[in-house]
Amino acid sequence: MESLDLNFPIRVIREGMADIAVPVLELFKRGCWDYAPARAPVFYNPKMKICRDIAVLALQSYQDIVNRDLSVSEPLAGCGVRGIRFAKEVKGIKSVYLNDISERACQLAKYNIRLNNLDEKVFVSNEDANLFLSRHAAPRNRFDFIDIDPFGSPALYLDSAIRALRDGGLLALTATDMAPLCGVYPKVALRKYCGLSLKTEYCHEIAIRLLAGCLAMAAARHNIGIKILFSHSTRHYIRLYSLVEYGAKKADEALKNMGYILHCFKCFHRETHQDILLSGRETRCPECGSTLRAAGPLWLGKIVDENFCSKLEENLGKDYFSHIDNEAKKIIFLVRGETDAPLTYYVIDEICDKFGLPTPPLKEVIDLLLSMNYKALRTHFHARGIKTDAPASTVVNVIKRAAEENLPA
Ligand SMILES: C[S@@+](CC[C@H](N)C(=O)[O-])C[C@H]1O[C@@H](n2cnc3c(N)ncnc32)[C@H](O)[C@@H]1O
Ligand SMILES: [Zn+2]
Repeated sequence: MESLDLNFPIRVIREGMADIAVPVLELFKRGCWDYAPARAPVFYNPKMKICRDIAVLALQSYQDIVNRDLSVSEPLAGCGVRGIRFAKEVKGIKSVYLNDISERACQLAKYNIRLNNLDEKVFVSNEDANLFLSRHAAPRNRFDFIDIDPFGSPALYLDSAIRALRDGGLLALTATDMAPLCGVYPKVALRKYCGLSLKTEYCHEIAIRLLAGCLAMAAARHNIGIKILFSHSTRHYIRLYSLVEYGAKKADEALKNMGYILHCFKCFHRETHQDILLSGRETRCPECGSTLRAAGPLWLGKIVDENFCSKLEENLGKDYFSHIDNEAKKIIFLVRGETDAPLTYYVIDEICDKFGLPTPPLKEVIDLLLSMNYKALRTHFHARGIKTDAPASTVVNVIKRAAEENLPA
């Protein structure tokens, strides 16, 4: 294999079934709390392995469902680890097109392709992601699967990604701009996602719904509808997997899922309005009379699909995928449990903080709600979160009861 003429040191690591040359990250760290991947000359973040593990499983599950050879692309590829893993680990992949605006990233990606003997299957280009996607927007040139994994927001790439996907294609999106999406900068969220974020205890779910809503609106402009197959919020990012379905009717159907979440910061009450126009609505809390605050417009429809989760679990059970990280497995199992869960969730600690109570065990609160015939379940969004259809006042009372029962004698 020819040598690589880069002016920074690299080492070869193994991720999944691929050998990947990556920058020696420790050399770019300025202190123990510094984030080395951001400073390295080519991007590689070992912590995103879980995200890539789930992406590999999602792509295999999609391929199993559509049962044809797939053309795949990663327009912001960095060192190429994600796309190379798709080519190596997913069966039924015809070709993978990697692209990055950084010349050094492309050089390293090419080296990694050769390292994994994938020259016949994986190709690299070096241009702006939107240009790259636009070159694939014509019929017969489109992709079956596009994975947009940028720094920050994927909003800039939605239009061109939608145009570069064939009918029934799958789009995967990462967003790491959690401060705007989680309500720290709602005006930025409005600018990027055309919806207001809100700093509630369930802001990570709002983040996914804002991204999904933004995608639905962008797709609708092209007479395309969306159907969300899977989504998760993990550490510092959210991920969304959505089918695109051609046709004005599909777009109209998708838009019926748009609306608002109204939240009361005084008593934890929340309600949804499945309507793109909020005008004329009562914005007083029906429980305590305070003013409700709105998040949206955002996607109120399903953010996970039962059948797709079954496929993911089926693949997880195979020896072939035994290398998939346990944390990725845990996320998939928890998200699967949430397919029919009510919107939003409560975080026990937030409620206990407000009332100065010790925090009771999660299971006790869930059991109490179940014994009262409400739905109640854990959520992957938060280790101390509960999804339930009980009214906020009941949730608060149940948590108070459980907390008092756990007070030391
Ligand atoms: C978060 S990294 C990608 C990581 C990669 N997907 C992975 O799984 O390891 C984002 C990449 O986008 C590239 N990039 C930034 N702006 C771009 C643009 N306008 N067009 C194409 N690539 C771009 C950066 O050079 C960087 O390599
Ligand atoms: Zn209220």
